[in-house]
Amino acid sequence: MSEHPIHIKSKLPLVGTTIFTIMSALAVEHDAINLSQGYPDFSCKDALQDLVYKHIKAGHNQYAPMAGLPLLRRLLAEKVMKLYNFPLHPEHEVTITAGGTQAIYTAINAFVHRGDEVIIFEPAYDCYIPAILMAGGSPISVPLQYPDYSIDWNHVKKLITAKTKMIVINTPHNPSGKILGREDMKALEKITENTDIIVLSDEVYEHIVFDEASHESVWKHEKLAKRSLAVYSFGKSYHVTGWKMGYCMAPEYLMKEFRKVHQFLVFSVNTPFQHAIAEYLQQSDDYLELNQFYQEKRDFFLSAIKQSRFEILPSKGTYFQLLSYKKISEELDTDFAVRMTIEHKVASVPLSVFYKSKEDNKVLRFCFAKGKDTLEKAAEILSKI
Ligand SMILES: Cc1ncc(COP(=O)(O)O)c(C=O)c1O
Repeated sequence: MSEHPIHIKSKLPLVGTTIFTIMSALAVEHDAINLSQGYPDFSCKDALQDLVYKHIKAGHNQYAPMAGLPLLRRLLAEKVMKLYNFPLHPEHEVTITAGGTQAIYTAINAFVHRGDEVIIFEPAYDCYIPAILMAGGSPISVPLQYPDYSIDWNHVKKLITAKTKMIVINTPHNPSGKILGREDMKALEKITENTDIIVLSDEVYEHIVFDEASHESVWKHEKLAKRSLAVYSFGKSYHVTGWKMGYCMAPEYLMKEFRKVHQFLVFSVNTPFQHAIAEYLQQSDDYLELNQFYQEKRDFFLSAIKQSRFEILPSKGTYFQLLSYKKISEELDTDFAVRMTIEHKVASVPLSVFYKSKEDNKVLRFCFAKGKDTLEKAAEILSKI
């Protein structure tokens, strides 16, 4: 006899508590430095906080228009024009969402039908597969090639079938810190040419790219731009992950379908925060300083662990750094990450959790969106392991 009064059939039977929650709980329990969860431990700019307060007090507290505040959408379209030289119509091609996650879920569920295949690259950010499954689709995983996490486009090409509805790309890439180059985008453009495949481009780290490299947005590639939806997160660009604010951009014919789902998933998102971000965008383009800001953090962390036995895998973007521990231990990455948290008091995320196959290359992910003291203390410990 079940302990519950009714029998339910889970729509996501294999989904449990995420590793981020598990590692963070373990970090708290063992008083460990938490470099597992991907968010800053520092605050956003005072001016932005003040604007939120200002707009709440000004009475901007009722539903916003379904697609988002027109002013905010206009400013975002202008930003894409400035950065990527691509014209998007603010009225028909930009929608404000409750973070990148909602935009991804909405985009997948607006287009993927039962039986459709969606190509994703693994290791993959954890919300793609559940969103595909909820739409009744099948995730088709392509492994990024260890150790540089590059894409074998010939392999991708071989996996394309009549059922392929969508390809999800993510650059800069969580968890690897890899960025796609111009050649990758050209390969994607070629593979999708003369097909009905939609590209979903997760660009939430667009402003965190290092070493003078430039972000390859789909908007820089005219043919791709015509078949793509791109998602963004204010959480990443303004150190406010808890606000859960983001947006989606797409050509009108795709955005029309996106909004049909968006309308009934959330209808519209947080009004005073939309006003605040719109006003802030008019005052400041400090998102342009993020590359430098996070590159300094990455370099500080890397120089502090120079003497350690961990092997550094290149981080070209995002606020994540991968370290290989293969010279230290042969343990499973999940076991090693747990033991490191309990015994050495530094929490990280084992990379195998980002693979359906649980591929284990003895690699851990560390988040360096943390204050200098925290990074210094963590590095000191890592150097002794
Ligand atoms: C690659 C990637 N996409 C999307 C998201 C979700 O963004 P948001 O917090 O705005 O929902 C994250 C957050 O960590 C991410 O790393």
